[in-house]
Amino acid sequence: MATILITGCGSGFGKLSAVELARRGHRVFASCRTLAAADQLGAETAGRDGIVPLALDVTDQASVDAAMRRIGDAAGAIDVLVNNAGIARLGALEDLDADALRGVMETNFFGALRVTRAVLAGMRTQGEGRIIMVSSLSALVGLPGEGIYAASKAALEAAAESLRYEVDRFGIHVSVVEPGAFDTAMPAKLAAGDAVPAASPYRPLLSYLTARAQRQLGTGDDPQRVATLIADIAETDEPGFRYAAGRQAEQVVQRLRALDESARADFIRGVNDTQWWSAGADRPE
Ligand SMILES: NC(=O)c1ccc[n+]([C@@H]2O[C@H](COP(=O)([O-])OP(=O)(O)OC[C@H]3O[C@@H](n4cnc5c(N)ncnc54)[C@H](OP(=O)(O)O)[C@@H]3O)[C@@H](O)[C@H]2O)c1
Repeated sequence: MATILITGCGSGFGKLSAVELARRGHRVFASCRTLAAADQLGAETAGRDGIVPLALDVTDQASVDAAMRRIGDAAGAIDVLVNNAGIARLGALEDLDADALRGVMETNFFGALRVTRAVLAGMRTQGEGRIIMVSSLSALVGLPGEGIYAASKAALEAAAESLRYEVDRFGIHVSVVEPGAFDTAMPAKLAAGDAVPAASPYRPLLSYLTARAQRQLGTGDDPQRVATLIADIAETDEPGFRYAAGRQAEQVVQRLRALDESARADFIRGVNDTQWWSAGADRPE
Protein backbone atom coordinates (compact mmCIF):
# COMPACT_ATOMS: atom_id res chain seq x y z
CA MET A 1 0.00 0.00 0.00
CA ALA A 2 1.45 3.36 -1.05
CA THR A 3 0.83 6.82 0.36
CA ILE A 4 -0.32 8.96 -2.56
CA LEU A 5 -1.00 12.68 -2.93
CA ILE A 6 -3.10 13.87 -5.87
CA THR A 7 -3.80 17.54 -6.60
CA GLY A 8 -7.02 18.86 -8.14
CA CYS A 9 -9.35 16.09 -6.92
CA GLY A 10 -12.48 18.26 -6.89
CA SER A 11 -13.42 16.88 -10.32
CA GLY A 12 -12.23 15.08 -13.45
CA PHE A 13 -9.09 12.98 -13.64
CA GLY A 14 -8.07 13.89 -10.08
CA LYS A 15 -11.24 12.64 -8.46
CA LEU A 16 -11.40 9.50 -10.63
CA SER A 17 -7.72 8.71 -9.95
CA ALA A 18 -8.26 9.09 -6.21
CA VAL A 19 -11.18 6.66 -6.30
CA GLU A 20 -9.28 4.21 -8.55
CA LEU A 21 -6.13 4.19 -6.39
CA ALA A 22 -8.12 3.86 -3.16
CA ARG A 23 -10.04 0.95 -4.75
CA ARG A 24 -6.64 -0.71 -5.40
CA GLY A 25 -5.84 -0.47 -1.69
CA HIS A 26 -3.70 2.67 -1.47
CA ARG A 27 -4.01 5.53 0.97
CA VAL A 28 -4.86 8.56 -1.13
CA PHE A 29 -4.63 12.13 0.08
CA ALA A 30 -7.11 13.59 -2.40
CA SER A 31 -6.47 17.30 -2.36
CA CYS A 32 -8.87 19.92 -3.69
CA ARG A 33 -8.33 23.62 -4.38
CA THR A 34 -10.82 24.69 -1.72
CA LEU A 35 -11.96 23.37 1.63
CA ALA A 36 -15.55 23.37 0.31
CA ALA A 37 -14.53 21.06 -2.55
CA ALA A 38 -12.66 18.80 -0.11
CA ASP A 39 -15.77 18.63 2.11
CA GLN A 40 -17.89 17.81 -0.95
CA LEU A 41 -15.47 15.04 -1.96
CA GLY A 42 -15.56 13.75 1.62
CA ALA A 43 -19.36 13.58 1.49
CA GLU A 44 -19.31 11.82 -1.91
CA THR A 45 -16.73 9.25 -0.84
CA ALA A 46 -17.96 8.70 2.72
CA GLY A 47 -17.71 5.06 3.70
CA ARG A 48 -15.00 4.37 1.11
CA ASP A 49 -11.69 3.25 2.60
CA GLY A 50 -8.44 4.92 1.64
CA ILE A 51 -9.49 8.42 0.57
CA VAL A 52 -8.49 11.36 2.75
CA PRO A 53 -9.82 14.63 1.28
CA LEU A 54 -7.95 17.80 2.13
CA ALA A 55 -7.55 21.36 0.88
CA LEU A 56 -4.48 22.26 -1.18
CA ASP A 57 -4.23 25.22 -3.53
CA VAL A 58 -1.13 24.64 -5.64
CA THR A 59 -0.65 28.39 -6.17
CA ASP A 60 -0.42 29.07 -2.42
CA GLN A 61 2.78 28.08 -0.59
CA ALA A 62 1.11 28.27 2.83
CA SER A 63 -1.63 25.92 1.66
CA VAL A 64 0.96 23.45 0.31
CA ASP A 65 2.96 23.64 3.56
CA ALA A 66 -0.16 23.02 5.67
CA ALA A 67 -1.16 20.02 3.52
CA MET A 68 2.38 18.57 3.77
CA ARG A 69 2.33 18.91 7.56
CA ARG A 70 -1.01 17.18 7.72
CA ILE A 71 0.11 14.30 5.48
CA GLY A 72 3.45 14.03 7.30
CA ASP A 73 1.73 13.75 10.69
CA ALA A 74 -0.77 11.17 9.42
CA ALA A 75 1.35 9.03 7.10
CA GLY A 76 5.00 10.11 6.92
CA ALA A 77 6.61 10.44 3.50
CA ILE A 78 4.66 10.46 0.26
CA ASP A 79 5.40 7.57 -2.12
CA VAL A 80 3.56 8.89 -5.16
CA LEU A 81 2.68 12.46 -6.13
CA VAL A 82 0.21 13.05 -8.96
CA ASN A 83 0.40 16.66 -10.16
CA ASN A 84 -3.02 16.83 -11.76
CA ALA A 85 -4.41 20.29 -10.88
CA GLY A 86 -4.72 22.44 -13.97
CA ILE A 87 -6.60 25.22 -15.69
CA ALA A 88 -7.00 26.18 -19.35
CA ARG A 89 -7.65 29.51 -21.01
CA LEU A 90 -8.72 29.93 -24.60
CA GLY A 91 -7.45 33.21 -26.01
CA ALA A 92 -4.95 34.81 -28.34
CA LEU A 93 -1.57 35.50 -26.77
CA GLU A 94 -1.92 39.17 -27.74
CA ASP A 95 -5.42 39.47 -26.20
CA LEU A 96 -5.07 37.74 -22.84
CA ASP A 97 -4.02 40.15 -20.11
CA ALA A 98 -0.89 39.61 -18.04
CA ASP A 99 -2.86 38.24 -15.08
CA ALA A 100 -4.56 35.63 -17.24
CA LEU A 101 -1.23 34.57 -18.76
CA ARG A 102 0.44 34.38 -15.34
CA GLY A 103 -2.55 32.59 -13.81
CA VAL A 104 -2.17 29.62 -16.16
CA MET A 105 1.57 29.40 -15.54
CA GLU A 106 1.07 29.78 -11.76
CA THR A 107 -1.27 26.78 -11.62
CA ASN A 108 -0.03 24.45 -14.35
CA PHE A 109 3.69 25.05 -14.07
CA PHE A 110 4.74 26.79 -10.84
CA GLY A 111 1.98 25.03 -8.90
CA ALA A 112 3.13 21.58 -9.99
CA LEU A 113 6.76 22.54 -9.32
CA ARG A 114 5.85 23.86 -5.85
CA VAL A 115 4.20 20.60 -4.79
CA THR A 116 6.97 18.54 -6.38
CA ARG A 117 9.67 20.43 -4.46
CA ALA A 118 7.73 19.85 -1.25
CA VAL A 119 7.78 16.04 -1.61
CA LEU A 120 11.29 15.47 -2.96
CA ALA A 121 13.22 15.50 0.33
CA GLY A 122 10.95 12.80 1.80
CA MET A 123 11.28 10.68 -1.34
CA ARG A 124 15.07 11.08 -1.38
CA THR A 125 15.29 10.08 2.27
CA GLN A 126 13.30 6.92 1.74
CA GLY A 127 15.20 6.17 -1.47
CA GLU A 128 12.14 5.85 -3.68
CA GLY A 129 9.22 7.77 -5.05
CA ARG A 130 7.11 8.51 -8.08
CA ILE A 131 6.04 11.81 -9.53
CA ILE A 132 3.38 11.76 -12.22
CA MET A 133 2.72 15.01 -14.09
CA VAL A 134 -0.62 15.34 -15.84
CA SER A 135 0.48 17.29 -18.90
CA SER A 136 -1.40 17.48 -22.19
CA LEU A 137 -1.09 16.75 -25.86
CA SER A 138 -0.95 20.55 -26.06
CA ALA A 139 2.64 20.39 -24.75
CA LEU A 140 3.61 18.87 -28.09
CA VAL A 141 1.47 20.91 -30.46
CA GLY A 142 0.88 24.64 -29.97
CA LEU A 143 -2.59 25.21 -31.39
CA PRO A 144 -3.90 28.74 -32.06
CA GLY A 145 -5.92 30.04 -29.11
CA GLU A 146 -4.20 27.63 -26.73
CA GLY A 147 -0.80 29.32 -26.58
CA ILE A 148 -0.52 29.96 -22.86
CA TYR A 149 -1.96 26.55 -21.95
CA ALA A 150 0.43 24.86 -24.40
CA ALA A 151 3.34 26.89 -23.01
CA SER A 152 2.47 25.92 -19.42
CA LYS A 153 2.35 22.21 -20.26
CA ALA A 154 5.49 22.38 -22.41
CA ALA A 155 7.27 24.08 -19.47
CA LEU A 156 5.98 21.35 -17.15
CA GLU A 157 7.29 18.62 -19.46
CA ALA A 158 10.66 20.33 -19.93
CA ALA A 159 11.10 20.61 -16.15
CA ALA A 160 9.89 17.03 -15.69
CA GLU A 161 12.49 15.78 -18.15
CA SER A 162 15.33 17.60 -16.34
CA LEU A 163 14.00 16.45 -12.97
CA ARG A 164 13.99 12.88 -14.19
CA TYR A 165 17.75 12.93 -14.71
CA GLU A 166 18.38 14.77 -11.43
CA VAL A 167 16.46 12.35 -9.21
CA ASP A 168 16.80 8.94 -10.88
CA ARG A 169 19.88 8.37 -8.73
CA PHE A 170 17.68 8.64 -5.62
CA GLY A 171 15.23 6.01 -6.81
CA ILE A 172 12.63 8.56 -7.86
CA HIS A 173 10.77 8.04 -11.13
CA VAL A 174 9.20 10.93 -13.01
CA SER A 175 6.47 10.32 -15.59
CA VAL A 176 4.39 12.56 -17.81
CA VAL A 177 0.84 11.74 -18.93
CA GLU A 178 -0.33 13.47 -22.12
CA PRO A 179 -4.10 13.25 -22.49
CA GLY A 180 -5.80 14.27 -25.73
CA ALA A 181 -9.50 15.16 -25.56
CA PHE A 182 -11.43 13.72 -22.59
CA ASP A 183 -14.93 14.42 -21.30
CA THR A 184 -14.17 16.13 -17.99
CA ALA A 185 -15.32 19.58 -16.88
CA MET A 186 -12.35 21.19 -18.64
CA PRO A 187 -13.60 21.12 -22.27
CA ALA A 188 -16.91 22.65 -21.13
CA LYS A 189 -15.06 25.40 -19.27
CA LEU A 190 -13.07 26.09 -22.46
CA ALA A 191 -16.13 26.00 -24.68
CA ALA A 192 -17.80 28.59 -22.45
CA GLY A 193 -15.14 30.92 -23.89
CA ASP A 194 -13.39 33.94 -22.45
CA ALA A 195 -14.57 37.46 -23.17
CA VAL A 196 -12.72 38.53 -26.33
CA PRO A 197 -11.97 42.28 -26.47
CA ALA A 198 -14.38 44.03 -28.86
CA ALA A 199 -11.57 45.40 -31.01
CA SER A 200 -9.62 42.14 -31.09
CA PRO A 201 -8.35 41.17 -34.53
CA TYR A 202 -8.65 37.56 -33.32
CA ARG A 203 -12.45 37.61 -32.74
CA PRO A 204 -13.30 35.48 -35.81
CA LEU A 205 -10.69 32.89 -34.81
CA LEU A 206 -11.81 32.76 -31.16
CA SER A 207 -15.51 32.60 -31.95
CA TYR A 208 -14.81 29.80 -34.43
CA LEU A 209 -12.75 27.89 -31.86
CA THR A 210 -15.39 28.38 -29.15
CA ALA A 211 -18.20 27.16 -31.42
CA ARG A 212 -16.10 24.21 -32.48
CA ALA A 213 -15.33 23.33 -28.83
CA GLN A 214 -19.07 23.50 -28.05
CA ARG A 215 -19.91 21.18 -30.94
CA GLN A 216 -17.29 18.70 -29.76
CA LEU A 217 -18.50 18.52 -26.15
CA GLY A 218 -19.20 14.92 -25.24
CA THR A 219 -17.10 13.46 -28.06
CA GLY A 220 -13.91 13.01 -26.04
CA ASP A 221 -12.68 9.80 -24.47
CA ASP A 222 -13.85 8.39 -21.13
CA PRO A 223 -11.74 10.08 -18.36
CA GLN A 224 -11.67 6.82 -16.41
CA ARG A 225 -9.08 5.73 -19.00
CA VAL A 226 -6.65 8.37 -17.67
CA ALA A 227 -7.43 7.45 -14.04
CA THR A 228 -6.61 3.81 -14.81
CA LEU A 229 -3.38 4.83 -16.58
CA ILE A 230 -2.31 7.00 -13.63
CA ALA A 231 -2.99 4.15 -11.21
CA ASP A 232 -1.06 1.72 -13.46
CA ILE A 233 1.95 4.08 -13.57
CA ALA A 234 1.79 4.44 -9.77
CA GLU A 235 1.94 0.66 -9.39
CA THR A 236 4.22 -0.56 -12.17
CA ASP A 237 7.76 -1.68 -11.30
CA GLU A 238 9.60 0.40 -13.90
CA PRO A 239 7.47 3.34 -15.02
CA GLY A 240 8.23 4.92 -18.39
CA PHE A 241 8.60 8.64 -18.88
CA ARG A 242 5.95 9.68 -21.41
CA TYR A 243 2.47 8.24 -21.76
CA ALA A 244 0.09 9.44 -24.46
CA ALA A 245 -3.51 8.98 -23.30
CA GLY A 246 -6.55 8.60 -25.48
CA ARG A 247 -7.30 8.25 -29.19
CA GLN A 248 -6.33 11.78 -30.22
CA ALA A 249 -3.02 11.84 -28.31
CA GLU A 250 -2.00 8.39 -29.50
CA GLN A 251 -2.56 9.33 -33.15
CA VAL A 252 -0.75 12.68 -32.93
CA VAL A 253 2.14 11.37 -30.85
CA GLN A 254 2.71 8.52 -33.26
CA ARG A 255 3.16 11.03 -36.06
CA LEU A 256 5.29 13.46 -34.05
CA ARG A 257 7.77 11.18 -32.44
CA ALA A 258 10.98 10.88 -34.37
CA LEU A 259 13.02 9.20 -31.66
CA ASP A 260 11.68 6.48 -29.41
CA GLU A 261 11.96 7.06 -25.64
CA SER A 262 14.99 4.92 -24.91
CA ALA A 263 16.96 6.50 -27.77
CA ARG A 264 15.99 9.92 -26.38
CA ALA A 265 17.09 9.00 -22.83
CA ASP A 266 20.46 7.70 -24.07
CA PHE A 267 20.90 10.83 -26.14
CA ILE A 268 20.10 13.24 -23.26
CA ARG A 269 22.37 11.49 -20.76
CA GLY A 270 25.12 11.54 -23.41
CA VAL A 271 24.96 15.28 -24.15
CA ASN A 272 26.72 16.27 -20.91
CA ASP A 273 28.16 12.82 -20.12
CA THR A 274 25.99 12.35 -17.00
CA GLN A 275 25.41 8.61 -17.39
CA TRP A 276 27.52 8.07 -14.23
CA TRP A 277 25.08 10.17 -12.15
CA SER A 278 22.01 8.25 -13.23
CA ALA A 279 23.85 4.98 -12.71
CA GLY A 280 24.61 5.92 -9.05
CA ALA A 281 28.39 5.88 -9.71
CA ASP A 282 31.04 8.26 -8.31
CA ARG A 283 31.98 11.36 -10.25
CA PRO A 284 34.57 10.48 -12.91
CA GLU A 285 37.98 12.21 -12.81
N1 LIG B 1 -9.90 16.94 -20.05
C1 LIG B 1 -9.01 16.94 -21.01
O1 LIG B 1 -9.34 16.72 -22.17
C2 LIG B 1 -7.56 17.18 -20.70
C3 LIG B 1 -6.65 17.03 -21.72
C4 LIG B 1 -5.30 17.22 -21.47
C5 LIG B 1 -4.87 17.54 -20.21
N2 LIG B 1 -5.78 17.71 -19.20
C6 LIG B 1 -5.23 18.03 -17.88
O2 LIG B 1 -5.80 17.16 -16.92
C7 LIG B 1 -5.74 17.77 -15.63
C8 LIG B 1 -7.07 17.60 -14.94
O3 LIG B 1 -8.06 18.27 -15.69
P1 LIG B 1 -9.52 17.68 -15.92
O4 LIG B 1 -9.65 17.42 -17.35
O5 LIG B 1 -9.80 16.61 -14.95
O6 LIG B 1 -10.42 19.00 -15.66
P2 LIG B 1 -11.18 19.50 -14.35
O7 LIG B 1 -12.32 18.61 -14.06
O8 LIG B 1 -11.43 20.94 -14.62
O9 LIG B 1 -10.12 19.31 -13.17
C9 LIG B 1 -9.12 20.24 -12.87
C10 LIG B 1 -9.03 20.31 -11.37
O10 LIG B 1 -7.91 21.12 -11.00
C11 LIG B 1 -8.33 21.92 -9.91
N3 LIG B 1 -7.54 23.13 -9.76
C12 LIG B 1 -7.51 24.25 -10.52
N4 LIG B 1 -6.69 25.16 -9.99
C13 LIG B 1 -6.19 24.61 -8.86
C14 LIG B 1 -5.29 25.06 -7.84
N5 LIG B 1 -4.76 26.30 -7.88
N6 LIG B 1 -5.00 24.23 -6.81
C15 LIG B 1 -5.53 23.00 -6.74
N7 LIG B 1 -6.40 22.51 -7.65
C16 LIG B 1 -6.72 23.32 -8.69
C17 LIG B 1 -9.77 22.27 -10.22
O11 LIG B 1 -10.44 22.72 -9.05
P3 LIG B 1 -11.58 23.87 -9.16
O12 LIG B 1 -12.64 23.30 -10.05
O13 LIG B 1 -12.00 24.05 -7.74
O14 LIG B 1 -10.93 25.08 -9.72
C18 LIG B 1 -10.29 20.94 -10.76
O15 LIG B 1 -10.77 20.11 -9.73
C19 LIG B 1 -5.35 19.24 -15.87
O16 LIG B 1 -3.99 19.42 -15.54
C20 LIG B 1 -5.58 19.42 -17.36
O17 LIG B 1 -4.75 20.41 -17.90
C21 LIG B 1 -7.11 17.54 -19.41
